[in-house]
Amino acid sequence: MSLKERIELAKEQLGISEVDTQALEKALGKKLVDYESTEALVAALMGYYNEELKKKANTSHTHDYAPSSHKHKKADISDFPTSMKNPYALSIQLNSGTAYTYDGAATKNINITPASIGAADSSHTHTKANITDFPTSMKNPNALEIKMNGQNPVSYDGAAAKSINITASGIGAEPAFKKNGAFNKNFGTTSNTVLEGAKLAEILGLTYGGSLNTSSAKTVNYAYYDSTTKKVYKCIKATSINYADANYFEAISNNDLLGKLQNFINVGTSYCYIGGILIQWGTLSGLKANTTIYQTFPKAFKNTNYSVVYQKISADHSNNTPMKTSVKETTRFGVYSYGVSSVDWLAIGV
Ligand SMILES: [Fe+2]
Repeated sequence: MSLKERIELAKEQLGISEVDTQALEKALGKKLVDYESTEALVAALMGYYNEELKKKANTSHTHDYAPSSHKHKKADISDFPTSMKNPYALSIQLNSGTAYTYDGAATKNINITPASIGAADSSHTHTKANITDFPTSMKNPNALEIKMNGQNPVSYDGAAAKSINITASGIGAEPAFKKNGAFNKNFGTTSNTVLEGAKLAEILGLTYGGSLNTSSAKTVNYAYYDSTTKKVYKCIKATSINYADANYFEAISNNDLLGKLQNFINVGTSYCYIGGILIQWGTLSGLKANTTIYQTFPKAFKNTNYSVVYQKISADHSNNTPMKTSVKETTRFGVYSYGVSSVDWLAIGV
């Protein structure tokens, strides 16, 4: 095999490119195939690579300088400062007003108050006028409950209109009434006062026992009012009847007393009653001798126990003209005489 063939085989087996081959030949100053022998070529290559190896540093060699692109940690810097001023200052402006700058070069205190930035203090308050949507009304937090005399409770909190009609009867009260003149007057017996109920018994002179028209017991000498006859009665005998039976009650109303008083003295033209006593009088004329002439009483007596007396008048007064009561009846009496013409008579009885 020629040298050329051996070179081509070595390049192929070692993967040496044509560019590397040309760079090597340029460094040797001679083409590889131009060497006279294999030994001459190897000697040339040995010489070249020995020189190239001399240019390389030993793997354990050291340097006394750093590469230009080297870096350090903070710990490698002996006088690394603990603080530095800020490269860019901080500017604090209070609500577009006073401005403070701070870059850390010196201590600075800035007291920012609510007032200095135009804010309200945390404890500030407002008036209603400061609230734009302050309502004109709100429902009540606690409802009002209204009961009608303990019944029918109605609740109202103002959230909605409610109408409650409280009536006198709804709360158990008496209805309103017109106050008449005697309303709320003092008791008394003078003008503009009212008479106390006890005065009734004082006027009657009897204890007032109430209505006669009940079946309750009625007490003797108590007064009772009968709504049927509209009269006050005095109980004269204990009873429980509810009507004015005369066996138990005697009317003592003023009108009844007036009637009794009017009947006590009843004066007519020729008679009068004083209580139950009847007194009658008159003149009996037309008497005839030996004849009974009758005088009819203006009022009949109840019985004949009456007394009648008479007196001869004027010329009849002589002693020789005797007369007698010959008939005595309740409605009349008769005079039997001897020549008397007339007499004045007076009768009294019951
Ligand atoms: Fe506020």
